[in-house]
Amino acid sequence: MENNKRPETMARINTPALAEAFIEDEIQKLRAEIGDKKVLLALSGGVDSSVVAALLIKAVGQQLVAVHVNHGLLRKGEPEQVVEVFRNQMKANLVYVDAVDRFLDKLAGVAEPEKKRKIIGAEFIRVFEEEARKLEGIEFLAQGTIYPDILESDGVKAHHNVGGLPEDLQFKLVEPLKFLYKDEVRVVGKALGLPDSMVYRQPFPGPGLGVRCLGAITRERLELVRESDAILREEFAKSGLEGKVWQYFTAIPDFRSVGVKNGVRTFAYPVILRAVNTTDAMSATIEPLDYALLARITARITEEIPGINRVLYDVTPKPCATIEWE
Ligand code: XMP
Repeated sequence: MENNKRPETMARINTPALAEAFIEDEIQKLRAEIGDKKVLLALSGGVDSSVVAALLIKAVGQQLVAVHVNHGLLRKGEPEQVVEVFRNQMKANLVYVDAVDRFLDKLAGVAEPEKKRKIIGAEFIRVFEEEARKLEGIEFLAQGTIYPDILESDGVKAHHNVGGLPEDLQFKLVEPLKFLYKDEVRVVGKALGLPDSMVYRQPFPGPGLGVRCLGAITRERLELVRESDAILREEFAKSGLEGKVWQYFTAIPDFRSVGVKNGVRTFAYPVILRAVNTTDAMSATIEPLDYALLARITARITEEIPGINRVLYDVTPKPCATIEWE
């Protein structure tokens, strides 16, 4: 990849006016580069790919084909939000692929974390490749590469990469955010009219909830992790912690234990809460959550989700734990 150094003269994009100027400039550049050809984009609904999509919709409209693969490992409401924002509101040419069964069938019985990750990554490429083959006249592939991705990989290869596509599906890359830092991407996303819940979204691993559903993924435990995560996020938002705590989520182990509810013995799963702060994700400290908030979250999770009978709060920093549980 050539030209991987951010121009020294480039001002930090930290105001709406600077974001507007960046957007106008990029629109002109994208139109000149793409002409009347088509551009493909894997749209996860994360900050970077969403901002690239919104920018390309402005620049080339229906020439953008955005593919959203629902692998069944997304958080509650995410696939619906992608469809609502990009298809219904922005009128994008969005291909929504329901690949939930495919992914879960491939993952059935696989407990080893690296194996799970490999299956999810490989299946994603396969689904994306199949969709790309159905389309004609695609010349470009847009990616949400941002500047830290380039810096971290020493300019060798970017992090956001639909790598693994076969030789005959190597498109010309379009990476309009490649000189932007994350905070600048958010300012641009806001100026493009994306909702705050997308622009200020906390980090989420590529393999999604598959990481947080420990051991072999089952549909039952996937629902438990999705529902408990949704309650945690709701309660954080109500308490003003959204946007303050760097990352927070739930994880479900693959064992059950005895509990009691309404005088009846239960045999159900525990859920683990995690809330951390960090600047670079290399190390992390624990957010000291208010006990009343923990009690509220515990009450809601155990009352609203029948498959869970215990709530645990992980107070281990990184190191020696990692941020994720997997
Ligand atoms: P760990 O668990 O290694 O996580 O302390 C550090 C940060 O990286 C995120 N993470 C990922 N992000 N793809 C991503 O884009 C991944 O495969 C992945 N795995 C972990 C994790 O959520 C945390 O913010």
